[in-house]
Amino acid sequence: MTDTPTTDAGPATDQRAASPVAFPQDRTCPYHPPAAYDPLRAARPLARITLFDGRPAWLVTGHAAARRLLADQRLSTDRTRDGFPVTAARLAGVRGRKTALLGVDDPEHRTQRKMVLPEFTLRRAAALRPHIQRIVDERLDAMVARGPSADLVTAFALPVPSMVICALLGVPYADHEFFEEQSRRLLRGPLPADTLDARDRLEAYLGELVDRKREAPGEGLLDDLVRRQPDEEGIDRAQLVAFAVILLVAGHETTANMISLGTYTLLTNPRRLAELRADPALLPGAVEELMRVLSIADGLLRMATEDIEVDGQTIRAGDGVVFSTSVINRDESVYPDPDALDWHRPARHHVAFGFGIHQCLGQNLARAELEIALRTLFDRLPTLRLAAPADEIPFKPGDTIQGMLELPVTW
Ligand code: HEM
Repeated sequence: MTDTPTTDAGPATDQRAASPVAFPQDRTCPYHPPAAYDPLRAARPLARITLFDGRPAWLVTGHAAARRLLADQRLSTDRTRDGFPVTAARLAGVRGRKTALLGVDDPEHRTQRKMVLPEFTLRRAAALRPHIQRIVDERLDAMVARGPSADLVTAFALPVPSMVICALLGVPYADHEFFEEQSRRLLRGPLPADTLDARDRLEAYLGELVDRKREAPGEGLLDDLVRRQPDEEGIDRAQLVAFAVILLVAGHETTANMISLGTYTLLTNPRRLAELRADPALLPGAVEELMRVLSIADGLLRMATEDIEVDGQTIRAGDGVVFSTSVINRDESVYPDPDALDWHRPARHHVAFGFGIHQCLGQNLARAELEIALRTLFDRLPTLRLAAPADEIPFKPGDTIQGMLELPVTW
């Protein structure tokens, strides 16, 4: 863990020579792809991988090919399709369930996205900044009052995005322990039954909430959807609940991991942190660079519905296609010295938020939250440091959204 981490990825070589690598694998440093992915980094734009169940799949590793393929309608995200790739045993159970937005192809996807898009524009995220700042300030006040040490995940990184998405959707934050726990089980198990049970519980909870809102709508996106779109106009209860599940889960878990892993990365790269403190105008670029390097959603899933030619290779209809964002975001033809953290590089075209029609709906909100959370945290606590040796702090396994399990800090 150094200021300018380097991994000798080497130049692109003939990917057909490489034998399939198991995917996903656990990272050994939380902000680097596993060393076992090095052969994949050398095989651009496509490599062969083996999933946990022994099934072969394609891994997209090249930046240009990734953006092309993520925008290609011949790759489906419909997880209910027979043969859709699965990256962990526990995720097989939810395959029969339709996920709103992320699990829906066009034209249905376009209709769904239009219903919620106005709430996630750049303008809307800008308008939410004072509210986000208030939440960040309050959480830090509470943390400092209990200090001078804390687990940054539970005291700060998790509650901030949870509170923000609750207010935005109209979900009571008082229920956070319940939905955070179910989101954790949904994404990380550990048992196969956890995923299905967690999804059932979230659906039941949000179903009841939607029913209450139908009786008496309040303030929030779910209330607006209830108001704007009564049953007869097309959005039924099941669809509303499906929206609520993905927005609530995606809206807090991902950003929480970026805050915790981003903080860890800054604390273990003191020269980069000092640069940022010296010139706060670097922060928006630093957020993009952290998104690129950390690539916390590392394994976006698709299935080919037709044959697709990619630089002389053919992805066959029915093949599973996985996008390793951490490998794609280290394509040296786009990002020279790709393992180095560099606040000055134009990192914005990373694929850490995906690309194409499913590109992250919440990216404007996430950027605002990350900027405000990191800036305020390091301003407020100039002596912030890790309270345990960096290599002893546990982080999440490779088959889920990457992040810290806990982050002991002191100041
Ligand atoms: C730093 C935090 C975040 C990261 C790294 C992240 C990452 C991603 C990625 C990579 C995708 C595309 C997945 C794919 O193509 O397979 C995605 C989609 C999505 N994200 Fe995020 N996300 C973040 C924050 C949020 C927030 C705050 C929300 C708020 C609701 C959100 C809601 C969604 C939704 C609804 C989709 C599906 C969009 C669609 O299919 O049209 N995300 N996100």
